[in-house]
Amino acid sequence: MIMQVGIVSVMIYGISAVLGASNVSEEHGQCPLGFFPCGNLTVCLPQLLHCNGADDCGNQADEENCGDNNGWPHLFDKYFGMPNNDAGTKSNACLLGLVPDPCLCRDLELDCDGANFKDVPTVSVNITMMSLQRNRLRKLNGHIFFQYRSLKKLYLQHNLIRVVSPNAFRGLYNLTRLYLSYNKISVLMPEVFQDLHNLEWLILENNRLQRVTSTTFLGLHSLVLLVLLNNNLSRLDDICQEMPRLNWLDLEGNQIERVGNLTFRSCSMLTVLVLQRNRISHLHDQAFSPLHKLGELDLSSNSITAFPSHFFVQLVDLLQLNISYNPILDLEVDHFDNLHKLKSLVIEGIEIGNIQSRMFEPLRNLTHIYFKKFQYCGYAPHVRSCKPNTDGISSLEDMLANIVLRVFVWVVSATTCFGNIFVICMRSYIRSENKLHAMCIISLCCADGLMGVYLFMIGAYDLKFRGEYNRHAQAWMDSAACQVVGSLAMLSTEVSVLLLTYLTLEKYISIVYPFRYLTPGRRRTVTILVAIWVLGFIIAFLPLVCKGAFRNFYGTNGVCFPLHSEQRETEGAQIYSIVIFLGLNLAAFLIIVLSYGSMFYNIQRTGTQTTKYSNHIKKELTIAKRFFSIVITDSLCWIPIFILKILSLMQVEIPGSISSWVVIFILPINSALNPILYTLTTRPFKETLVQVWANYRQRRPLLGSRPAHLHPFTWLEIAPLQEGSQATTLALTSPDFQPHPTSCAS
Ligand SMILES: *[C@@H]1O[C@H](CO)[C@@H](O)[C@H](O)[C@H]1NC(C)=O
Ligand SMILES: *[C@@H]1O[C@H](CO)[C@@H](O)[C@H](O)[C@H]1NC(C)=O
Ligand SMILES: *[C@@H]1O[C@H](CO)[C@@H](O)[C@H](O)[C@H]1NC(C)=O
Ligand SMILES: *[C@@H]1O[C@H](CO)[C@@H](O)[C@H](O)[C@H]1NC(C)=O
Ligand SMILES: *[C@@H]1O[C@H](CO)[C@@H](O)[C@H](O)[C@H]1NC(C)=O
Ligand SMILES: *[C@@H]1O[C@H](CO)[C@@H](O)[C@H](O)[C@H]1NC(C)=O
Ligand SMILES: *[C@@H]1O[C@H](CO)[C@@H](O)[C@H](O)[C@H]1NC(C)=O
Ligand SMILES: *[C@@H]1O[C@H](CO)[C@@H](O)[C@H](O)[C@H]1NC(C)=O
Repeated sequence: MIMQVGIVSVMIYGISAVLGASNVSEEHGQCPLGFFPCGNLTVCLPQLLHCNGADDCGNQADEENCGDNNGWPHLFDKYFGMPNNDAGTKSNACLLGLVPDPCLCRDLELDCDGANFKDVPTVSVNITMMSLQRNRLRKLNGHIFFQYRSLKKLYLQHNLIRVVSPNAFRGLYNLTRLYLSYNKISVLMPEVFQDLHNLEWLILENNRLQRVTSTTFLGLHSLVLLVLLNNNLSRLDDICQEMPRLNWLDLEGNQIERVGNLTFRSCSMLTVLVLQRNRISHLHDQAFSPLHKLGELDLSSNSITAFPSHFFVQLVDLLQLNISYNPILDLEVDHFDNLHKLKSLVIEGIEIGNIQSRMFEPLRNLTHIYFKKFQYCGYAPHVRSCKPNTDGISSLEDMLANIVLRVFVWVVSATTCFGNIFVICMRSYIRSENKLHAMCIISLCCADGLMGVYLFMIGAYDLKFRGEYNRHAQAWMDSAACQVVGSLAMLSTEVSVLLLTYLTLEKYISIVYPFRYLTPGRRRTVTILVAIWVLGFIIAFLPLVCKGAFRNFYGTNGVCFPLHSEQRETEGAQIYSIVIFLGLNLAAFLIIVLSYGSMFYNIQRTGTQTTKYSNHIKKELTIAKRFFSIVITDSLCWIPIFILKILSLMQVEIPGSISSWVVIFILPINSALNPILYTLTTRPFKETLVQVWANYRQRRPLLGSRPAHLHPFTWLEIAPLQEGSQATTLALTSPDFQPHPTSCAS
C-alpha cells in the first residue's frame, strides 16, 4: 500500500480520536463540585474515581473520556474519516499496461516511491493515482500532467522540487488530493492551481513558501483542507477568498506576525485553524469574528501578550482553545464567558497572576483543562480532568499524593514527637553534671519537637482533605493555618540549626583551648538561648508580618514549606529564602564542619603529647564523636537542601516530588535523630536502661502477676511529674538505679 507521508501524522491523531466520542456536554450541573455524573444515571461520584480503571458507576461512564478527544484530531476524523468505498472494486492486476522498471502497479494506480526518477514517467493516460515520493524531481514543467485527466491523487513528497511552472497542474480536473510536502518550493505563481476544481486536500507542508495570496489559490472551489505547516509565510491577506469551502487550515510553524481583520475575512466555513508556532504579536480585535463555525483554535507558542477584550465572544462553537506558551501577562476574567461549548482549554505555560474561579465558571461544558501549574487546578474544580494533576506533592485528590508520604508523615511525626518529648522528660530527671548543657539539649529538643508538630498537622490536614483536595487546595494554601504550620517548621529548622552551631562552637573552644576555656555562666547561656529563639521567631514569622513584601511565603505548596515554589515569588520572598537557606544555614553548616575538622586535628595532636589532661580529653573525645555523628546527619539533611536551592537559583526545573520527599523525609532527619544521638545512645542512658532491665529481671519473680511491660512505663510516667526529686523518683521505681553524672552529650 502506498504511504501518505505528508499527512501521516494527521492520520495517527485521527485514528487515536476514534477511540471515544465525547458525550458529557449536557451532564454537568447536577453534581456538586468535585463530583461527576455517571452518564445517564442520577449518580454522582467523586472525581477521584474518574478513570481509575474500575467500573464504579456500573455503566462504565466513569471510565469514559479518559483521554482528551476534543480538538482537531477528533474533528479530523469527523470530517475526513477515511471512506473505504472503492476498496472492493479494485483489482490486483495492473491495468496500466507497461510501467517503468522499479514501479509497482495495481489496478490504475502507480507507485514509484524511491525510484530515483528525475522526471515524471510517462504511463497510460488512464492512471488514477501516481506516487512519486522520495525521488529526485527538481522541477515541475508546464503541462507535465496534462494528459492524465483521470488522475485523482498525486503524491510528490520528499523530492527536490524548487520550481513549479504556472502550468504544471493544468488539466488535472479530477484531482482530489495533491501532496507537495517536503520539497523546496519557495514561490507558487498566481493561478497555478486554476484547473484543480475538484481538489479537496492540498498539502504544502515543509516547503519554503515566502508568500501566498488569494490568487495563488484561484480555482480551488472544493478545497477543504490546506496544510501550510512549516513554511516561511509572513503575510496573509484574505486567504480564503477563492476557497469558500475551506474547512481546515494549518499554518503552524510560519512567520506570521499579525492577524488583521481581513486575514480570515472569507473563512466562514473554517472549523479548525492552527496558528501554532508563529510570531503573532498583534491580533485585531475582529480578526476571528468571521469564523462562525470555528471548533478549534490553536494560537499556542506565539508572542501574544494580551487578547483584545471580547476577542473570543463570537466563537460560540469553539470546542478547543489552545493559547499556551504565549507571553500573556494577565487574562481578563470575562475572556471565556461566551465559550459555552468549550470542552478543552489549554493554557499551559502561562503564568496567570490574576487567576480566579470566576474565569472558568462560565465554562460549564469544560471537561479538560491544562495549566502551567497544579495549583491553578483549584480554581476550576468543576472540570473533570485538570493537568498537571499533581505538583509532585499534592494531587487533585490528596494533599499528599504519594501513599508512602501519607504513611510516613505519621511515622516520622510520631518518631520525632515521641523521641523529643521523651528526651525532654529524661533530661529533666537524670541528674546532670552540667545543667546548662542539659538546658541546651532540652531547647534543641523543643525545637525538634516542633517539626513533629508540623508533620502531625500536615498529616491531619491531609486526612481532612482526603479524596477532595482540589476543592480545598486554594483555601488551604491561603489559610492562616497553613502559614502558621509553615512558620512552625521554619522556626524548628532555624532554631535547631542555630543551636547546633552554638553547641559545636562551645565544644570547639573547650577542646581546642582546654586551658583557657571558661565554662559559660548560667546567665550567658540563657542569654544566648533566648537570643537564638528570638532570632528563630523573627525568621519564621517575619514573612507573616510583612505580607506586602512576601505575599504568600509559606502557602506555595500543599505542605506549606517554602523550599521550592513554582509560583512567581516576589523578589522579597526570593531573596529571603536565599538568605536563609543558602546564607544562614550554609554558614552554620560550614562552621559546624570546620569546627569538627579543627577539633579532631587538635585532639590527635594533643592526645599524643599530654597525659595529664588525657582524661579530660578522653571525655571530650567521646562527646566529639557523638557530635560527629550529629554533623553527619546534619549534612545528610542540609546538603540536599542546599543543592535544591542552588539548582532553583540556576533556574533548573525541579520536580515537585523531590521537594515533598525532602520536606517529609530529609528535613526531619535531624529532628528525629537528634534525641537519639544526644540522649538515647549516651552512656548514662544506656546504663540506666541496663539497670532498669536488671532490676526488672530480679524483681520479676517477686512481682508475680504484674504485667510484664508495666514496670518501665511506670518509671517513665512518674519521672516528669517528680521534678524536684529525681533520685527519689528513681528509688521509688527502680531502687538500684544510680544516676550518673552527665554533661551535655555524654
Ligand atoms: C449524548 O447523550 C445523549 C443523551 O444523554 C444522546 O441523546 C446523544 O445522542 C449522545 N450523543 C453522542 C454523540 O453520543
Ligand atoms: C442509559 O443509557 C443506556 C445506553 O447508553 C441505556 O441502555 C439505559 O437504559 C439508559 N438508562 C437510563 C436510566 O436512561
Ligand atoms: C484507457 O481505458 C479505456 C477503457 O476504460 C481503454 O479503452 C483504453 O485503451 C485505455 N487506454 C490505455 C492507454 O490504456
Ligand atoms: C474527469 O473530469 C471530467 C471533467 O470534469 C469529467 O468529464 C470526467 O468524467 C472525469 N473523469 C473521471 C474518471 O472522473
Ligand atoms: C524566511 O523569510 C525571512 C524573511 O521573511 C528570511 O529572512 C529567512 O531567511 C527565510 N527563511 C528561510 C528558511 O527561507
Ligand atoms: C477592519 O478594521 C479597520 C480598522 O482597523 C476598519 O476600518 C475596517 O472597516 C475593518 N474591516 C472590516 C471588514 O471589518
Ligand atoms: C497546545 O499547544 C502546545 C504548544 O504548542 C502543545 O504542546 C500542546 O500539545 C497543545 N495541546 C493540545 C491539547 O492540543
Ligand atoms: C453545553 O453545550 C451544549 C451544546 O453542546 C449547550 O447546549 C449547553 O448550553 C452547554 N451548557 C452550558 C451550561 O452552557
